[in-house]
Amino acid sequence: MKSFVLYVVVLVTLCEGISLPSSFRKCSRKERDFNQCLSLAINDAFTQLEKPLEDYGLPNLAHLEFPHNCKVAFGNSTDGLRQEFTKFTATGFSNPINTTASMDFGKNVLTLKVTYHQLLFRGEYIAQGRVFLLPVDIMTPVVITWDLPTYTFTFMLEEFMRETKYYKVVNSDIDMQPRNLAFHFEKLFDDQRLNDALNEAMSKKWLQIFTRLKYKEKVFAPFFGTFFNNFLERVPVSEIFG
Ligand SMILES: *[C@@H]1O[C@H](CO)[C@@H](O)[C@H](O)[C@H]1NC(C)=O
Ligand SMILES: *[C@@H]1O[C@H](CO)[C@@H](O)[C@H](O)[C@H]1NC(C)=O
Repeated sequence: MKSFVLYVVVLVTLCEGISLPSSFRKCSRKERDFNQCLSLAINDAFTQLEKPLEDYGLPNLAHLEFPHNCKVAFGNSTDGLRQEFTKFTATGFSNPINTTASMDFGKNVLTLKVTYHQLLFRGEYIAQGRVFLLPVDIMTPVVITWDLPTYTFTFMLEEFMRETKYYKVVNSDIDMQPRNLAFHFEKLFDDQRLNDALNEAMSKKWLQIFTRLKYKEKVFAPFFGTFFNNFLERVPVSEIFG
């Protein structure tokens, strides 16, 4: 009997979902300045994610570890250079300067435009093939520093019912615009001067490099979609939007 009661209690709790974290600001969709309220609420939530919120499936944004299938690869080692960036971690996502959020309830699309002070992406870089005529086979840690980047996240949502109404993310997109990028490859070559000079040359031409690689950034979108979804599947719509 006791275990049956416990079972019912657990079941009811699961079905009802959980309320918004008490430290999160709640915005009512009936308010006139709803998007402004949401912008402040989300900006504040990012700041709070200096620690993970495990009950909500939200990661530590101060230090994010991307899954290893988040990789950027291109080129060909027989006929040029095969390059691959993997094992990304990022610091700084808990430190936004400002956030502009807008929720389109008709289309169920949430857009977040977030500007950060600085983001550091660390990863591993692999290059195999030829540079000019020189054969290379490189594996080195790399740090890419983003100054004042603006990230635009677009989440396409869909409503579904489970006792009450919930959202889920059905598609995510991302766009990134840095003010400046700096590359630091630790060991492209044994010769330290050559290594430093190459980092400097690449950082100087960051915009051309970024423009060429920009379309690859989409690999990160599903990751952000997944953790937003973790949150949405736990917290009913009425809890989030009053
Ligand atoms: C590299 O490119 C050549 C010619 O385009 C192609 O024949 C070869 O299969 C490619 N190799 C790899 C590893 O993709
Ligand atoms: C956010 O901050 C950046 C950098 O200070 C600034 O350029 C931008 O205008 C700000 N955006 C809003 C919506 O306040």
